Amino acid sequence: MAQRKGIILAGGSGTRLYPITLGVSKQLLPIYDKPMIYYPLSVLMLSDIREIAIITTPQDQEQFKRTLGDGHQWGLELSYIAQPNPEGLAQAYVLAEGFLNGAPSAMVLGDNLFFGHGFPEMLVDANARPGGTVFCYRVQDPQRYGVLEFNAAGGVDRIVEKPVSAPSPYAVTGLYFLDETAPERAKSVQPSARGELEITSLLELYLADGLLNVQQMGRGFAWLDTGTHASLLDAGNFVRTLSERQGQQMGSPEEIAWGKGWITRDALRARARAFGKNEYGSYLMRLTEEG
Ligand code: TTP
Repeated sequence: MAQRKGIILAGGSGTRLYPITLGVSKQLLPIYDKPMIYYPLSVLMLSDIREIAIITTPQDQEQFKRTLGDGHQWGLELSYIAQPNPEGLAQAYVLAEGFLNGAPSAMVLGDNLFFGHGFPEMLVDANARPGGTVFCYRVQDPQRYGVLEFNAAGGVDRIVEKPVSAPSPYAVTGLYFLDETAPERAKSVQPSARGELEITSLLELYLADGLLNVQQMGRGFAWLDTGTHASLLDAGNFVRTLSERQGQQMGSPEEIAWGKGWITRDALRARARAFGKNEYGSYLMRLTEEG
């Protein structure tokens, strides 16, 4: 089977963050000390994925290229795809069909943050599974998400997009491991009442074929999305609290690339120097001095 490739969906309009996002993409806003997109990028890297396409609006693409480049600094191969209009999450698979070229994929939303003990192992496990794998998480406000409906045997019967009355508190998070049939299946999805190709509709196709594996992220996990003013600030505070308490970084592509042996000590040192004397640069410099 072809190596799994990654997709970061970083387009959208970010209307809930207006006026901030009138002039800049949401996924380039800071989450404490790093651009938001570093966090979902780190998730794909932890999944052992090195070939990644970043889907952005046409007007924001240049800024993403300036921020992330071609990925060689992290031992990655990054490419860029424009989504002219925010016509839904499932549209990503149609736009990325050529990039995927028959490979399975992992797609992560550019405004989702994940953190939890055992997460890297969960990702490597999902990478090795056939069909599709999604992750569910218990939330206070399930009606904002795609929600799982369970049957008496504990299996998933349906996924309901933004239900008025939620069948369970379990939302589907913004991370989807799908096999090589995803682009073909996405093309058969019809736009919803709000005019979008819904990811839920695509996942339902996998569910109908008995090919959807649902993993639960338990209460020891944090799944944050950053789409509103308050959640953006909360995510920044979360990252700051963790990193100051532990003296360890969350969502550092340099650290992951170094840990996986994708970059040399010299490359890591060059990166650390580029960030000068700020805490992030010093952290990377300390890594180069450790074993
Ligand atoms: P949303 O938060 O649903 O939408 P948005 O980012 O446009 O924000 P708002 O609701 O405030 O207008 O999107 C989730 C993620 O998916 C986010 O990272 C943007 C991205 N996205 C796309 O890249 N293309 C799309 O067509 C859609 C709907 C979302």
